Amino acid sequence: MKYPTPYAPDFSPRDPLTGVAEEFPARWSPRSFVKTAIADEDLRIILDAARWAPSAYNEQPWRILTSTEETFDTFLSLLVDANQKWAVNASLIGFMVARKNFSHNNKPNPTAVYDCGSAWMSLTLQARKLGLYTHGMSGIRKEAIYDAFAIGRDEFEVVAGFTIGILDAKESLGKPYVDWEGPSPRKPLTEVWKQGAW
Ligand SMILES: Cc1cc2nc3c(=O)[nH]c(=O)nc-3n(C[C@H](O)[C@H](O)[C@H](O)COP(=O)(O)O)c2cc1C
Repeated sequence: MKYPTPYAPDFSPRDPLTGVAEEFPARWSPRSFVKTAIADEDLRIILDAARWAPSAYNEQPWRILTSTEETFDTFLSLLVDANQKWAVNASLIGFMVARKNFSHNNKPNPTAVYDCGSAWMSLTLQARKLGLYTHGMSGIRKEAIYDAFAIGRDEFEVVAGFTIGILDAKESLGKPYVDWEGPSPRKPLTEVWKQGAW
């Protein structure tokens, strides 16, 4: 395996129904990463997977901005402090950006951010297929991101950040992060699924 998993995470809090594809409950968001470069060809595959997400009018409103080795520290500085503490060991930091209007009529695209979420999940599942992990972040310095990259506020919305990294032993994390590390549980299906009526 190109990107090894240093320990077997405890999946006991997760209770998917039999038949749910293993990829879904197997995805989780670690904070413990070991600083290692991701091979360029893998990165291209991960980003390409995002291209295949569905979107309203096939607008593909997502734009995905990712760090390079040279720019990593700049990207890191655009996260809130609490995220910087652990994201420093990620291989890459990225920002999901949505184009706010449709191209065909320049009217607001009400699901642009939703579609960005689909693209991010595609990218995430592809990363897991390659043995890598992602971690989404709303704790980003949005205004600083627009300014740092001269992203036009009229045309685009900075949605969220993420890391891609290689899993490290959880003991390498300090408090409080070490206590949170591992696959988390979910609300029961009965709470989130309203069948036939609200
Ligand atoms: C849009 C989004 C924003 C998030 N923001 C943060 C964040 O700023 N910092 C953080 O440590 N985790 C963040 N997370 C991670 C969530 O806390 C995590 O996905 C959730 O607890 C479920 O755990 P799991 O991803 O391991 O299944 C974020 C996740 C998503 C999808």
